[in-house]
Amino acid sequence: MDFKTQVVAATGACGVVADALLVLVSGDKLPSDLQTPLGTAMAAAHSAGEFSFKAGQVFYAHQLAGVKAARVLFVHAGDASPKAVRKAVHAGVTQIKSGGSKSLAVLATFELQSAHAQALVAAAEEAVYLYRHTKPSAVQASPLRSVSLLCDKPSAAKLGAALVQAQAIGAGVALARELANRPGNHATPTVLAEHAKQLGRDFGLKVQVLERKDVAKLGMGSFMAVAQGSEEPLKFIVAQWHGAGKGDAPVVLVGKGITFDSGGISIKGAAEMDEMKYDMGGAASVLGTLQAVAQLKARVNLIGIIPACENMLDGRSVKPGDVVTSMSGQTIEILNTDAEGRLILCDALTYAERFKPAVVVDIATLTGACVIALGHHRSGLFCADDALANELLAAGEAALDPAWRMPLDDEYDEALKSNFADMGNVGGRAGGAITAAMFLKRFTGKLHWAHLDIAGTAWKSGLAKGATGRPVGLLTQFVLSRAI
Ligand code: BES
Ligand code: MN
Ligand code: ZN
Repeated sequence: MDFKTQVVAATGACGVVADALLVLVSGDKLPSDLQTPLGTAMAAAHSAGEFSFKAGQVFYAHQLAGVKAARVLFVHAGDASPKAVRKAVHAGVTQIKSGGSKSLAVLATFELQSAHAQALVAAAEEAVYLYRHTKPSAVQASPLRSVSLLCDKPSAAKLGAALVQAQAIGAGVALARELANRPGNHATPTVLAEHAKQLGRDFGLKVQVLERKDVAKLGMGSFMAVAQGSEEPLKFIVAQWHGAGKGDAPVVLVGKGITFDSGGISIKGAAEMDEMKYDMGGAASVLGTLQAVAQLKARVNLIGIIPACENMLDGRSVKPGDVVTSMSGQTIEILNTDAEGRLILCDALTYAERFKPAVVVDIATLTGACVIALGHHRSGLFCADDALANELLAAGEAALDPAWRMPLDDEYDEALKSNFADMGNVGGRAGGAITAAMFLKRFTGKLHWAHLDIAGTAWKSGLAKGATGRPVGLLTQFVLSRAI
């Protein structure tokens, strides 16, 4: 779903050659500096009661005399914050795409900053994405090919740079959405590994895929226990982007790659079980972020680690009560086979140590409890280090991909005690997102670590069911901010 973005330094929006012109307004009265045919059209619409100066208001005009663009859409962008601009552009593009416009020009009656440009591209990208992999009959209503941002000369260079970055992030988000949307039988661990290799060829990443025998040698007893009930072979994917010096400690992202989570022997209920194809949303976001960072040739070292497998029921499946030995040497009593995410992540976190990372962030659709705690707007952030936590929170705010910090007090760890192993893999219902994070924390002794629980934000349910591509925005912003 690729479209071009560009900055056009233009003084007169009326003369701009485009199929559609989107005019973003803000404030509670008619903007004084709007060019004549546009300004008069707005004034007329306002006095006819068809447009009021309130957030989300939309007014559509066709073949406005004196305006080259055949379609003009006025949208009120609330307080003109990047977030409001994002909403307004999303509404605008959604409307315009049904009209079949190929090119869109955007004019704002307030000063555009880099953050606006990014929000604008993110919204357009989001609105034109269409899932077709297993539904090729789905037609792309919007053949949108280009988005031009109209601005004055002085801000053109700055906004142009923002657009380049936003487009790479948008493409990364689209990749993450696409992979996550693919059903379990179309996005197996093997398929994910092939995609990673393809990314490697296309963007210059070094990609290794470890097989069962390799992870057995490494002693990943916990990861293997989850995979053993499935006919699909597990894959342990390691993808590296070297954009900085050899001695530069990398950022390591670890993504949960459960391509389908049935719950295993502790089987889930049937309702909405199909959505457990999204249980590789963390993995998808790692690949999306790697693509964005590599596309921008960012001067940073970034490594993505993805333990990928299915969580299934079988005569060979791991059983409640089974005890396994993780790569760290710590033993785990698997009390609930549905708490499988932490079992694959713990071995990946131990593996991450070999890279002597500056930071490790794991990303996982880890707990239903996180959805109860935070709903679908903010991802859960767990991090014992205030500076790192604030850095990740700030990246989330800047990318309009927000997170919220959750606690990691030692007291929560007590719930993981077991009489038969160093720990159990569940800690009861209370504070379920936190005890899951405490479990992971036991494997991060030597690491500067943060955990993002994206169970509530990686996809949408109901009529709008589909992957969101989150938190590619947050992660890319974070990684780029660490580039030299
Ligand atoms: N993938 C799920 C978490 C999940 C559930 C995400 C529903 C989004 C919606 C995870 O593997 C899981 O099943 N977690 C259990 C943990 C419990 C057994 C301690 C859960 O949240 O119920
Ligand atoms: Mn599960
Ligand atoms: Zn899961």
